[in-house]
Amino acid sequence: MSQARWWQRGIFYQVYPRSFQDTNGDGIGDLDGIRARLDYLVTLGVDAVWISPIFPSPMADFGYDVADYCGIDPIFGDLEAFDRLVADAHARGLKIVLDFVPNHTSDQHPWFVESRASRHNPRRDWYIWRDPAPDGGPPNNWMSNFGGPGWTLDPASGQYYYHAFLREQPDLNWRNPAVRAAMHDVLRFWMARGVDGFRVDVIWHLMKDADFRDNPPNPEYEPGDPDIRRFIQSHSTDQPDVHPIIAELRGVIDEYEDRVLIGEIYLPIDRLVAYYGANLDGAHLPFNFQLIHASWSAPRLAELIAEYDAALPEGGWPNWVLGNHDQPRIASRIGCRRTRVAAMLLLTLRGTPTMYYGDEIGMENVPIATEDAHDPWEKNEPGLGVGRDPERTPMPWDASPAAGFTTGRPWLPLAADSARRNVAAQMEDPASLLGLYRALIALRRAHPVLHAGTYRKIAALGDVLVFLRESEQECVLVALNLAETAQDDIPLPPGTLGRVLLSTARDREERVEGHLALRPDEGVIVALDARI
Ligand code: NOJ
Repeated sequence: MSQARWWQRGIFYQVYPRSFQDTNGDGIGDLDGIRARLDYLVTLGVDAVWISPIFPSPMADFGYDVADYCGIDPIFGDLEAFDRLVADAHARGLKIVLDFVPNHTSDQHPWFVESRASRHNPRRDWYIWRDPAPDGGPPNNWMSNFGGPGWTLDPASGQYYYHAFLREQPDLNWRNPAVRAAMHDVLRFWMARGVDGFRVDVIWHLMKDADFRDNPPNPEYEPGDPDIRRFIQSHSTDQPDVHPIIAELRGVIDEYEDRVLIGEIYLPIDRLVAYYGANLDGAHLPFNFQLIHASWSAPRLAELIAEYDAALPEGGWPNWVLGNHDQPRIASRIGCRRTRVAAMLLLTLRGTPTMYYGDEIGMENVPIATEDAHDPWEKNEPGLGVGRDPERTPMPWDASPAAGFTTGRPWLPLAADSARRNVAAQMEDPASLLGLYRALIALRRAHPVLHAGTYRKIAALGDVLVFLRESEQECVLVALNLAETAQDDIPLPPGTLGRVLLSTARDREERVEGHLALRPDEGVIVALDARI
C-alpha cells in the first residue's frame, strides 16, 4: 500500500469559505482568510482542503449559482489571492480541491443571458427549454429541490426552462457537446493553476430522461414534507447515460498528474457505487454519506459498513463523510457527548475521511429564526426545518467578541458558546475534542494500517462495535461503546493481547488481555501484539 495515492492516504477537510476566516472586516470569510489559517490545518493534520464555491456569483445559493467559472468573486478575493492560497498550501504539503458546479449556472451567467434572448440564439440549446404542456403549465411534474415546480416560464419566448434547484440556477444541457467541451475547459483552467481536484456538485443530476417523462409519485410523501419528496426522482436524476459523461470528465482529470475527482451523490448504496464507473473510469471518490443518515447504533453501523464493503467494485476506494454544509452538524445530530466516538469511527474506518470545518471542536447547529434566514431553501419552504444556515455559522477561533472570525459583523451569528468553545481554548487542552482529533489523525499517520489495512468486523454486541484493521505488518482493534452506559466486560476473541494506543478520553494506555471495559460513549484503539 505504499503505492496509495494521496487521496487514499489523506484526510479531506471542507471549508465553507464564507464562514472560515474574514480578513477585510465585511463579516464574510475570504481566500486570504483561508490562507491565514493554513498553519492551523497543518497542526490539525489534514491533507486536502475542499473549498465550497468561490466563483463570481449573485449568491442566490451562496456560490452554487456560478456566473463565471474562471474567476473569483470579489467577496472572496481575486485570482492573485487564489494563486497565493494554492502556493502557500502546496508549500505546506496541503492539496486544494475546488467545488465544480456543472449541473447548472446562475441565470446571470452570460451563457444563460444569451440562451434566453431568443429561441434561435446559438446558445438556446445550452440549457433545457421546453414548450408548455397543452394546458399551458410546466412540461412535466419535475419539482425544484428548493420547493415549487422545477420549470419557470420565460414569457418572452413562451417556453419553460428547467432548474433542479432555484429558478436562478438553470440546468445546463449536458447532451450538447459544446456545453461539455466548455465545462472540460473549466477543469483544465483550474488544474493548470495548480488545483489538485474537484468535488463535483450533484453529479448524479447531470443527465435527465431524454423523453422528459413524469416522475412517479412517492408513496412515502407526507403533508409537511418538502416539495421535492412528492415524487421519486427516477427520470430527473441518476440516468444510465450520466456515466459516459462522467467518464469524459475523468478523462480530462487524467490529462493532469495525480488529480482527484469526487462526486456528490445522494443515492442508495447499490446506485452510488455505479459512480466509480464500469471500469473505474468514474469518480475516484463518490461521496459516501451513510454516516450522515445512519441511526447511531452499533448493529446499524456494522450493517451499513458491511453493505458498503460488499457493494464496492473491485479496486474502488471507500470513503466516509461525517458532515457537510447541507446537513445538520454531527454534534447536533447525535449529541455532543457522542462526537468523540464519531471522530474515532470516522478516522479508523477503511477509506478516505472527509471532515467538515468546525466539527473538530464540536460546533453545533446555531438556531436561526425563519425571518433571519439567508438560505433560499428555508425562505422558499419556511418552517419545515430544511434551512442550512445553522450548520454554516462562522468558525470560532478564540474568545474575542467576534471569535477572531472578523473585525466586522459576522454574516451569520456566532454560536452562543463561542467564547468557551473555540479553537484557541481547545488547542491548549489535550483532553478537548480538538485534542482528540489531532491525536487520532497523528495515529492514522503513524499507523499505516489505519488507512491501508483491511477491515474485519469482530462484533456488534449490544451497543458496542468492535472491528479490526489488519495488514501484513500490524493489526489494530477498535472498540466503540455507543451506549450511555458503561460496558464492563466486553469479550474479545481468544488470544487477544495488546496495548491501548488511544482512548477517546485520552487517559489510558494499559495492556489488554482477552477483554475490555469501556465507559459510556468511550472508544479505544488497541495495538495487538499479533494477528488474531
Ligand atoms: C449541492 C450543494 O451542496 C448545495 O449546497 C447546493 O445548494 C446544491 N447542490 C445546488 O447546487
